[in-house]
Amino acid sequence: MLTSLPLSRRQWLISNGATLAGLALTSRLMNFEAAAQMTPERLAATLPVRARLSLNENPFGPSPAALEAIMRNLSAGKAARYPYGEVNELIALIAKKEGVTPDHIVLSVGSGELLETVGVQFGLQKGDAIYASPGYLQLPRVVEALGGRGIPVPVNAQLEHDLAAMAAKISDRPTVIYIANPNNPTSTVVDPTALATFVKEVSRQTLVFLDEAYLDLADNYAGRTLVGLVHAERNLIVARTFSKIYGLAGMRIGYGVTSPKIAAQLRNYGMGSLTSPSIAAAVASLRDDGYVAATRAKIVAEKEKLLALLRELGRPYAASQTNFVFFQTGREHAKVAAAMLAESVSIARAFPPMTDWARISIGLPEENALARAALRKIFS
Ligand SMILES: Cc1ncc(COP(=O)(O)O)c(C=O)c1O
Repeated sequence: MLTSLPLSRRQWLISNGATLAGLALTSRLMNFEAAAQMTPERLAATLPVRARLSLNENPFGPSPAALEAIMRNLSAGKAARYPYGEVNELIALIAKKEGVTPDHIVLSVGSGELLETVGVQFGLQKGDAIYASPGYLQLPRVVEALGGRGIPVPVNAQLEHDLAAMAAKISDRPTVIYIANPNNPTSTVVDPTALATFVKEVSRQTLVFLDEAYLDLADNYAGRTLVGLVHAERNLIVARTFSKIYGLAGMRIGYGVTSPKIAAQLRNYGMGSLTSPSIAAAVASLRDDGYVAATRAKIVAEKEKLLALLRELGRPYAASQTNFVFFQTGREHAKVAAAMLAESVSIARAFPPMTDWARISIGLPEENALARAALRKIFS
């Protein structure tokens, strides 16, 4: 059972002095993130290969309407102008889609800015970030970099979040519980009823950061999203990105849906300074009604071919609800990655402690065909 904490501990927000420090650190951390891309591991993930299946991008995107909007925006001379006011239409569209009023929305440069800004706040408070392992590390790494604690909680036998074990890690320190649903790299979702109960309970004590970056790719989006829980002033942020299903990773657009109070505080940290073409692309994407379902269908059809091959090769895999697949190679990751690279296919980095597993993204049909041929060669 969860125990209730004193009111002060329920507040994840911090004093103005610390807020200013957080702002300065946020911009430093952006550079830190950029620098991290130059590690040999990151470099390998972006090598010029015939099939880049390492970063969970969506080369089926973006919507032609989004591309057209970007070109129109630039031709109209918008690159020379500050995009003041241009976000209002985008925020209104997002609010309508999410079933909330605009004051619940905070824009973000990719969803990464939101992850890092929240990470800064908990790091500055020497707080805790509880997260699934293996999991997506952008938020917990920032908490750790600023002197807080990252608390990894192993996924369960189905490679899903172990909600009870995560709740058991809550202490009296300021805490954010980070849940990516679906999870990266394991590609699994959590049962929506169990997750809703967990969020309602745990958000009484701590901030819950629910990252739904890949949820458009799962089955039954409407039955799985917990965005409806942001009402009632809960300590909950639901994060979304245009980098995945919308195929706009290069444009850096994301947002959070949260209580008006938390949204206002996040906006005060200077978040969401989107470029004019990015805003135009996001607006056009949201207006393109059939885009999400059509793109999801293409990705799922390609994914099925990969899963069929893995079954044929006798390789166990997690129940994927995303545009990537996590499977057991039974071999050292570095060797598998090198063998795939020799076939001009890049796969994701290793995800300790599951180092005999590999994550491979779904790309365009020709890229996936190349990857399947490589897998067949390596694992037959
Ligand atoms: C689970 C998850 N959340 C968030 C992100 C951040 O993506 P972006 O900053 O492009 O929105 C990623 C990127 O791969 C991710 O896997």
